[in-house]
Amino acid sequence: MKVSTALFGSIVAASALSTSAVPKKKHHAIDPKDFVYVDGLRLKDAKGLHYITGLNYWACMNLAANKSQGGNYSRLVTELDQMAAHGINHLRVMASSEGAPTPQPFRMTPALMEAPGKYNEKIFRGLDICLDELSKRGIRATMTLNDEWQWSGGFAQYVSWALNNTAIPYPPSWNMTKAPQRTTPGTGWGNYSDEADGAHTYDEFTTFANQIYTNELTEKWYKDHIKTVINRRNTVNGRKYNEDATIMTWQLANEPQSLYNYSPSDPLFPWVDRISSYIRTLAPKQLISVGLESKQGEQIFKAVHKAPEVDYATTHCWVQNWGVYDMYDSSEANLKAAQDFATAFIANTSAWSKDVGKPVFLEEFGMARDNWENANKEYPYLSSASTTHKDAYFKTIIGAVVSDFKNGGPYIGTSPWAYGGMWRPETQVVNEFGMVWAGDPPHESPGWYDLYDTDEAMNIVARQQKDVAAWIKKNQTHGY
Ligand SMILES: *[C@@H]1O[C@H](CO)[C@@H](O)[C@H](O)[C@H]1NC(C)=O
Ligand SMILES: *[C@@H]1O[C@H](CO)[C@@H](O)[C@H](O)[C@H]1NC(C)=O
Ligand SMILES: *[C@@H]1O[C@H](CO)[C@@H](O)[C@H](O)[C@H]1NC(C)=O
Ligand SMILES: *[C@@H]1O[C@H](CO)[C@@H](O)[C@H](O)[C@H]1NC(C)=O
Ligand SMILES: *[C@@H]1O[C@H](CO)[C@@H](O)[C@H](O)[C@H]1NC(C)=O
Ligand SMILES: *[C@@H]1O[C@H](CO)[C@@H](O)[C@H](O)[C@H]1NC(C)=O
Ligand SMILES: *[C@@H]1O[C@H](CO)[C@@H](O)[C@H](O)[C@H]1NC(C)=O
Repeated sequence: MKVSTALFGSIVAASALSTSAVPKKKHHAIDPKDFVYVDGLRLKDAKGLHYITGLNYWACMNLAANKSQGGNYSRLVTELDQMAAHGINHLRVMASSEGAPTPQPFRMTPALMEAPGKYNEKIFRGLDICLDELSKRGIRATMTLNDEWQWSGGFAQYVSWALNNTAIPYPPSWNMTKAPQRTTPGTGWGNYSDEADGAHTYDEFTTFANQIYTNELTEKWYKDHIKTVINRRNTVNGRKYNEDATIMTWQLANEPQSLYNYSPSDPLFPWVDRISSYIRTLAPKQLISVGLESKQGEQIFKAVHKAPEVDYATTHCWVQNWGVYDMYDSSEANLKAAQDFATAFIANTSAWSKDVGKPVFLEEFGMARDNWENANKEYPYLSSASTTHKDAYFKTIIGAVVSDFKNGGPYIGTSPWAYGGMWRPETQVVNEFGMVWAGDPPHESPGWYDLYDTDEAMNIVARQQKDVAAWIKKNQTHGY
């Protein structure tokens, strides 16, 4: 869900079967009444201190949907089992995606909501299945209700609807059908769209999308969506969404953007207040987060996260997108710059969260593979590249969060971007909806930030969970 944006200049740019498979390994299912809650700077559940070992798995509802909608149930359950076996106890998933009157590029298809208030029930059932399968494996969810970026429709689609289907000024986005193409049709590669393809700047795009903060019609439709999802009854297990502790958090949106510089009159701040208060009335037992990247400094961080109904802060750390790291540079200095940035970013945001008096969740970060190895190959994101920098970086950034947690700081967990599981760019085939369902969303180069099932990063994630679980046990035994 990251996007390349403007911190340091410009961009780089199931079936409905209710008898679903039971995980091979034994996991403790989520008790639907065991809601995670905030206690000071900590999260707790019935067992005590709760630390999040998460992953982003945004396409869960589409993978879980009926085959006729592009779903792939066997892949879904295999990947959920893989994640559970690595100690994953939380997934950040989309609980929204918007379609349009005319087919739109660069986004999840089919959409959950085809037009304001009009739903694709088969995708909604996919979300039911997703949640049920998570629950069985002891995995809770963050449910993301909207998106600043184009890859799920999101803000820009709502605004387009409200403005008589005005054309969306898309920024450069991955076009799977652009040259270079592989010889077998439908297998990629593609490239980013550019000006010649009609691409606009990121500034033009966010200015268009951010009209959602002040448009009454978009706000009404968005609130209607929130109400529909939160009040839904799961068709697989019969639980009401707002009575199911599998759902830990309702998240306003993926990476809502503020004005570039802090301004007390930024419309983002009252929007966060209004939407979070609205969610609270519908889902009093669950938590609320904003989905802010928190890249724009202390004032914006605090102004957003002090909203009374926001339960914890969020951070996303993107060293390549923010111009700190270069995936073609194999030098130690390049890696170290990324590690130093991440360490400082965690320290800063930890301090700010303490000031606000709320926990903070590192819910997105990633690093490319050692893609200098791919520089002269047919595709820069081949999975054959090694991951020496990524592994070292993951150890650093996850280590910083774990150590903050153990020292009583506000950090409550990590969630890398994003699980690609069994998928690989080398074997990708677009489905009838033009989707490959990589860990990277449809507006970005597939394979850039994926965590594959065989990647060392998954072992680093798994060790984090073991380490923290042992620490919690010891800490609680001694009367925490
Ligand atoms: C998928 O949808 C088709 C068409 O509506 C239906 O016949 C089929 O039973 C569905 N499959 C499952 C597993 O629900
Ligand atoms: C489902 O996913 C698996 C694993 O990625 C793949 O082998 C299979 O071809 C997929 N099935 C469909 C119908 O796409
Ligand atoms: C909306 O767009 C349609 C087609 O582009 C046009 O015919 C119509 O006049 C527009 N309506 C308004 C209110 O702008
Ligand atoms: C994608 O690339 C193809 C081939 O160059 C082009 O025809 C199409 O217009 C592009 N789509 C977008 C949305 O840029
Ligand atoms: C995409 O286009 C850029 C600029 O034209 C080019 O350098 C690059 O090699 C292309 N990407 C791929 C995957 O070929
Ligand atoms: C951390 O905060 C300091 C002081 O505000 C600032 O100078 C520095 O750039 C920040 N570093 C990161 C990585 O956020
Ligand atoms: C438990 O952890 C907290 C936070 O680091 C610490 O203050 C406390 O002393 C620890 N207690 C024990 C018994 O280890």
